[in-house]
Amino acid sequence: MIKTVNTTPYSDQKMGTGGLRKKTQAVMQPNYFENFIQSIFNVIDPHGKTFVVGGDGRYFNDVAIQRFIKMAAANGVRKLIIGQNGFMSTPAGSNVILKRKTDGAFIFSASHNPGGLNGDFGVKYSNQTGGQVPTSVTDKIYAETQSISSYKICEAPDINLSEIGQIRLENTEIEIIDPVNDYVDMLKNIFDFDALRRLFASGFTMRFDAMNAVTGPYAIRIFEETLGAPKGTVTQAVPLPDFGGLHPDPNLIYAKHLVDFMFSDKATDFAAANDGDGDRNMILGRKFFVTPSDSLAILTDNCRYVPAYKNGISGVAKSAATSTAVCRVAAANKLPCYIVPTGWKYFVNLMDSGRITLCGEESFGTGSSHIREKDGIWAVLFWLSIIAATGKSVEEITRENWKKYGRSYYMRFDFEGLDTSVADKLMADLENKLPSLKGQDFGSYKVSEAAPFIYHDPVDGSITQNGLVIDFTNGSKITFRLSGTGSSGATLRVYLERPEYHDLDNDTYDMVQDLLKIAMNVAEIPQRTGKTKADVNT
Ligand code: G1P
Ligand code: ZN
Repeated sequence: MIKTVNTTPYSDQKMGTGGLRKKTQAVMQPNYFENFIQSIFNVIDPHGKTFVVGGDGRYFNDVAIQRFIKMAAANGVRKLIIGQNGFMSTPAGSNVILKRKTDGAFIFSASHNPGGLNGDFGVKYSNQTGGQVPTSVTDKIYAETQSISSYKICEAPDINLSEIGQIRLENTEIEIIDPVNDYVDMLKNIFDFDALRRLFASGFTMRFDAMNAVTGPYAIRIFEETLGAPKGTVTQAVPLPDFGGLHPDPNLIYAKHLVDFMFSDKATDFAAANDGDGDRNMILGRKFFVTPSDSLAILTDNCRYVPAYKNGISGVAKSAATSTAVCRVAAANKLPCYIVPTGWKYFVNLMDSGRITLCGEESFGTGSSHIREKDGIWAVLFWLSIIAATGKSVEEITRENWKKYGRSYYMRFDFEGLDTSVADKLMADLENKLPSLKGQDFGSYKVSEAAPFIYHDPVDGSITQNGLVIDFTNGSKITFRLSGTGSSGATLRVYLERPEYHDLDNDTYDMVQDLLKIAMNVAEIPQRTGKTKADVNT
């Protein structure tokens, strides 16, 4: 039943910040998906190995999983652990890898990118660490995609993934699991579920928006069925192949409906949203938005309210583009604070070596060493634990943090759909210009340092350059980088941070205007891209 199919390479199968991300229709081209999976298999030798498999339910997931199963069986995989109906969130997948000591996972998702036939599709490949593989491995896989000439697949009927239990294809054992069970068990070991139950029993109100994506069933089980939140607390809870037309990215732009609700008179005490595959989170209070950078700082400062962290944490980490809010909390609490390139995979070595417990990114990602991916529902439970223990509102908790440590006014501006060559040249020319900026004055802003961000991994010694950073003497900072998750063209991201220690009640947009002007001017954004303003700012 195993056949070998001849194929020819596709030139563009390079993994970015979070796996392979492409237009769905590109992945549907003949042999495109198969080429990529076989290239991974050729690099890692899957014989006798066990993998976790699932996806966020987006369009083409069902087809991709069936093809994957048949290729895994043809390539000698010992066992596949698959989420029922092919569903598994990214954090749940990471948990299953660690809990069952498997060799890795394949999660079919383009994360927060839109789904559907005209949307995006993706493959996230993780290894036994529970995290996505490092660049040294993705480079080898890319090289393999460039010379692949055949792949192996079983000719067999599709596997029924709707029933929990065991089946077999060739010599491959297939176990279909309820993907929610293991995940809930893991969270029960971290948080005080009784305290959270009491919070909801006291009349505390919340809205969790699953954005028609994978976290709906997890959120219903946890918030409504386990913690006793009223039915209807979880909205848009049924995963749909096109996410109901939503762009499943929990931020001020794409979850505007939730933001509007929380700024209306109907607002609940608390609200949160997750992204397509459940690793991102947005936190809102009544008429109040918490930036992801602040959220990380606040979780760090309040970790004593969570049983798993109450005896202390080993350290924290943030991506370079994330605000320095968490670093101030870390410094005050004598904790190491590591600064890594953008992409969760850079946190993995720090977690594995016990250097950090909590970490996060400005792009609505927060997590801890309980798994090796960011974790949307975990972040929500952490916030609820702080609220339950302190009796304070989201706004009070955040303002207290600003008072104690200062506030970083922070905003990210994205210039989308750029010609790749224009974007690359902009970055290259800006990099060349950086040395000349040192010491320059821009109104009241004086440049103290201007250099590429270069990371030396303290564990494996690898060196990564990602983004260009301009620091000012007043603590402000501008970071430029190109997105690595897009499926076409280029996106320039400009991250602005302005820390203030007394002036705590201003509008963020107003506070970063001067920095925005400097960024536009220094990088010559209007002249080079034709854009006088960003397409998206969050
Ligand atoms: C984006 C975010 C980054 C995150 C990644 C995967 O990557 O900026 O923080 O780790 O998605 O969720 P980017 O498109 O900027 O490369
Ligand atoms: Zn995601």
